[in-house]
Amino acid sequence: MPDDRILLAHLTDLHIGAGVGDADPARRAERVVSAIAALDPAPDAVVVSGDLTQLGEPAQYARVRELLAPLRMPVHVLPGNHDVRKALRDALLADVDTGPTDYLQYEARVKGLRLLVCDTIIPGEDGGRLCSKRIGWLEAALAADRTTPTIVAMHHPPLLTGIAEMDAIGLQPESRAQLAALLDGAPNVLRVIAGHVHRAMYSTCGGRAVFSCPSADVAIRLDLRPAPLGVLDEPPAYALHLLTGGELVTHVQPLP
Ligand SMILES: [Fe+2]
Ligand SMILES: [Fe+2]
Repeated sequence: MPDDRILLAHLTDLHIGAGVGDADPARRAERVVSAIAALDPAPDAVVVSGDLTQLGEPAQYARVRELLAPLRMPVHVLPGNHDVRKALRDALLADVDTGPTDYLQYEARVKGLRLLVCDTIIPGEDGGRLCSKRIGWLEAALAADRTTPTIVAMHHPPLLTGIAEMDAIGLQPESRAQLAALLDGAPNVLRVIAGHVHRAMYSTCGGRAVFSCPSADVAIRLDLRPAPLGVLDEPPAYALHLLTGGELVTHVQPLP
């Protein structure tokens, strides 16, 4: 981005190694990456908000690396419930200081924008959580800078979807409440961005805007009845977060 605007591309839930029906997650991810790589102006950075693989196997992360290779700008990744921390770190975060714990949390700069990357996973479970260590890290990071425009990124969005089986594997209520209390005092957080729910959704947490990005992989059916989760072979999609004039606007772009 050549002027004072800042552009962050966002893709999520690649699920490399999975496959529902005829859907090929690698082919879908390839299409999203190609679209982002061809953008003019080019994004300043890319965030990939988890579920990079289906099973967290090293070979699947090797494939993710290949698929993300066309992106010439910094790519910031984080874990989802289908990921395995060590394998993800070895493949994609070897150069990133994630601190003294196992959690994959870190701060990144995208020009004048701050990105706070959180780890919401519970190994072996599909739901998400921010334990006291992770909340403590975020609290300190927010307290250290109350002015720089900030995006908080995580896999499990801090919102209720109304889709029963998705809410059963969402971010735990206690974590959402603790996060809301932190965000309530952090007006420079312009957006919380996430994946996991495989649909574009918008809500608030602690007065801050929350956005979940539609997935590169298949979508979850929008069904507000108490029904089993269904999947839909909808077009893969990505989002663009543009900081312009001090405001953050989020665009959602499905592929044709
Ligand atoms: Fe997912
Ligand atoms: Fe997920």
